[in-house]
Amino acid sequence: MIPYLEQRRDMASSYTMVYVPVGNRHKGFSKPTISVGYCTPKRCLVAIAVSMVIGTVIIQLLLSFRHYLRDIHLRTDKDGELVIISKKIASKHNAVCLDGSSVPGYYMKEGIDEGEQKWLIMIPHSDWCNSMEDCRSSITSPLKGTMKKAPVTLQFTDILSSDPAENAYFADWNMIRLVPCSGSSYLGNSSVSQNDDYNKELRLNGAAVLAATLEHIISTTDISKSKQVVLYGEGSGAISALAYTHYIKSTLFVPNFTTLLSSGLLFDTRKSHFNVDKFFQLHNIKGNTVLRNCDSLTCLNAEQLLRSPRTSPVVVYTVGVPLWPLTTMYGCQNETDCTAKGYREKYFKAVTGLHTQHLQIRKLITILSHCDWSLKTTVTKEDPRIVNRSIYEILVESLSGNVKTAIYIDNGDCKGKGS
Ligand SMILES: *[C@@H]1O[C@H](CO)[C@@H](O)[C@H](O)[C@H]1NC(C)=O
Ligand SMILES: *[C@@H]1O[C@H](CO)[C@@H](O)[C@H](O)[C@H]1NC(C)=O
Ligand SMILES: *[C@@H]1O[C@H](CO)[C@@H](O)[C@H](O)[C@H]1NC(C)=O
Ligand SMILES: *[C@@H]1O[C@H](CO)[C@@H](O)[C@H](O)[C@H]1NC(C)=O
Repeated sequence: MIPYLEQRRDMASSYTMVYVPVGNRHKGFSKPTISVGYCTPKRCLVAIAVSMVIGTVIIQLLLSFRHYLRDIHLRTDKDGELVIISKKIASKHNAVCLDGSSVPGYYMKEGIDEGEQKWLIMIPHSDWCNSMEDCRSSITSPLKGTMKKAPVTLQFTDILSSDPAENAYFADWNMIRLVPCSGSSYLGNSSVSQNDDYNKELRLNGAAVLAATLEHIISTTDISKSKQVVLYGEGSGAISALAYTHYIKSTLFVPNFTTLLSSGLLFDTRKSHFNVDKFFQLHNIKGNTVLRNCDSLTCLNAEQLLRSPRTSPVVVYTVGVPLWPLTTMYGCQNETDCTAKGYREKYFKAVTGLHTQHLQIRKLITILSHCDWSLKTTVTKEDPRIVNRSIYEILVESLSGNVKTAIYIDNGDCKGKGS
């Protein structure tokens, strides 16, 4: 039997069972002609409405699933992801890495929960090149002088770690690890491209790379709504973090801003074995308007930089005496050599002296410990304690804004190590 007919019959029989008031009996009650699949305007509207509701629910489910996946991704992914600056912004600033062709970028990890409105921006240590030959040797190294072959992700450790056990204060923050790919920690401002002996084009405009990077960050993130920003510089990156503190703070237009400087910053650059005149000329550091006519490394000396007017706090944090400043300053070769010649002690004393001199300057907090060789960025249980406190504790306290000026130095005998 054809199902359609069967249904008609059912309908008809149910119709006969409907109660109809007597008075209406002869008023031509027409037999309902509704058939299955037939769409009256009302039915259609209902059907459309129902499918719209179902559709919306499905879309919502998919969106929340996507959100859920993104959330899982943010919570489980500990690495920074490569972001390449938009071509438009890069060309507006004429920002290209040392290799003369690759567009600069940086690594980023998004913050979660409370950390969504907090930002840690790191300028890592990077080599300064002071001759064409020197610069050419780094144009093939990813992240040094080029972004070609830059890894898609970069492991974030130490102060960039998202493990609360290791990095309680910053673990859930937004984190950006910059890539100064111009051989000058963003300090250079040479507008002309130079050709080396092999007729390869080199670009030495670090300032333009920084300007483009900041513009890209502002245009693609919520950093302008941030509650707290910490600019963190390490090694040579600490020098540029201090030199650019005001510039970066005012460009990002953020009120709560602290500069945190780690290791390698406070050495007496006047005694450096590094050929500074060549570095200045090659990168046209004098043409950097932010540094205001800086024509010798003296103006990048911590002593000078700390003197310049400042509106935000600076925390200097030197855990360990890294080999790098010793070899550049005194020309010693390795750990054994530098220790034997007494340069390690000499360096630490010089740094301590510099800090003590600047104690009067408001908003300078200094944490110094010389019990290690390596350049430490995150404080572990193995680190020496200062006045029986972990360096991380002191660091966190100084970032909370309660401490305006202080100097913390270990006792020099390194006995507190590991306690
Ligand atoms: C770099 O130099 C150009 C002029 O060549 C100048 O317009 C620009 O402001 C400078 N940028 C910085 C950051 O110094
Ligand atoms: C350290 O440098 C000194 C002086 O150049 C050298 O004699 C020595 O072999 C070096 N030691 C190591 C472990 O490289
Ligand atoms: C140092 O701190 C630890 C715990 O943080 C404590 O047990 C110890 O007694 C302290 N030592 C001194 C000398 O205050
Ligand atoms: C910045 O924010 C932190 C965390 O909320 C706070 O402790 C600190 O006092 C603030 N600093 C300033 C200068 O507002």
